[in-house]
Amino acid sequence: MGIELLTTTRSFRRRLDLTRPVERRDLLECLDIAVQAPSGSNRQPWRFLVVQDDETKQRIAEFYRKGFEANLAGRTPRPDQLGDLASSRYLAEHLGEVPALVFVCSLGRLPEPASPPRLASFYGSIYPAVWNFMLALRERGLGSCLTTAHLAYEREVADLLGIPFDEVTQVAMVPVAHLLPGHDGPGRRAPAAEVTLWDRWA
Ligand SMILES: Cc1cc2nc3c(=O)[nH]c(=O)nc-3n(C[C@H](O)[C@H](O)[C@H](O)COP(=O)(O)O)c2cc1C
Repeated sequence: MGIELLTTTRSFRRRLDLTRPVERRDLLECLDIAVQAPSGSNRQPWRFLVVQDDETKQRIAEFYRKGFEANLAGRTPRPDQLGDLASSRYLAEHLGEVPALVFVCSLGRLPEPASPPRLASFYGSIYPAVWNFMLALRERGLGSCLTTAHLAYEREVADLLGIPFDEVTQVAMVPVAHLLPGHDGPGRRAPAAEVTLWDRWA
């Protein structure tokens, strides 16, 4: 797949099959690809917590929806954002029905405030693994979406899932399901030539 995989792996929300379970074996195979990602000093700070229990997913979905609504409050979306917004709302409404919710966590917790280099190293050592995971899923016909809306309730979700809050930071939650048929295409993006500078900023 190669380039096509890289350019057509989108945030899948409405195309998630809420009726078909996702096998642990498939998730583990994709997580094995996730952990091939780079991390600062090869620290491999990641931990993955996969939630498939229905009642737990419903409780997580309640926190997610509260975080999602708070993110929207006071924002007026641009017309070109309305489609994404409807899709995001669909996910928020159905999150508890998604077969697997994968919490990507990083060992440690940053001091507040953290310096830009520490922030870069902390988050930069985990997001490549998230993206590797999403690409590996997609190659197997599984869809996902990188989400952070629940993080406003990180502590509450940590308590619910038994995650030691002071020692482990949740960085993303990736809902995973089999992918329903649909259109695969590149995302709406400004061309690289418009956002690339050479030798000097201006
Ligand atoms: C750091 C980060 C946080 C995100 N959080 C959410 C989220 O909480 N909920 C959601 O539905 N999508 C979330 N997204 C997905 C973006 O909305 C999406 O990547 C963007 O609109 C581009 O769409 P595409 O991925 O389909 O090309 C997040 C993406 C990133 C990179």
